[in-house]
Amino acid sequence: MKNFKSILFVCLGNICRSPLAEGIAKKIANDKGLEITVDSAGTSGYHSGEAPCTNSQVIAKQYGIDISKQRSREVDISDFHAFDMIIALDNSNLKDLEMLGCQNCTKLGNFGANGKDVPDPYYYDGLEGFEKVFKMIENCVENIFDRYQSAKNI
Ligand code: 4NP
Repeated sequence: MKNFKSILFVCLGNICRSPLAEGIAKKIANDKGLEITVDSAGTSGYHSGEAPCTNSQVIAKQYGIDISKQRSREVDISDFHAFDMIIALDNSNLKDLEMLGCQNCTKLGNFGANGKDVPDPYYYDGLEGFEKVFKMIENCVENIFDRYQSAKNI
């Protein structure tokens, strides 16, 4: 794929990791002047309608990204055709997506993190874990854009 027009990030709850990926990707697209649809979803609907978890909001804000308006939603099989790229945050998310029939999905960690899972920070106490997760997501999302969107998408 040379240029992609839409990208969906998927984790389990869509309240900790994929909202960060969405916020970071939107910022990069905006900074580069690219018209790309960016969204995120969860393989579960446990937290549907909820805002991102507090620590994700706090860490994003520290890096100048406001994710407070995002709301969790469950992934839908219609997403698999609606988005050019579906990016899972960990192996379990990837397996769940594949079980649902997703064929254009891969894992975020394949873009610069040696295929590692982005760890689930849901049960972390402090911000430290969220900062590590933020940096890991940021690095991989930057690599996706560097690999596929070097020129303005017109
Ligand atoms: P996320 O984190 O997948 O990064 O949004 C989680 C949020 C909630 C739960 C698990 C992971 N949960 O089990 O409720």
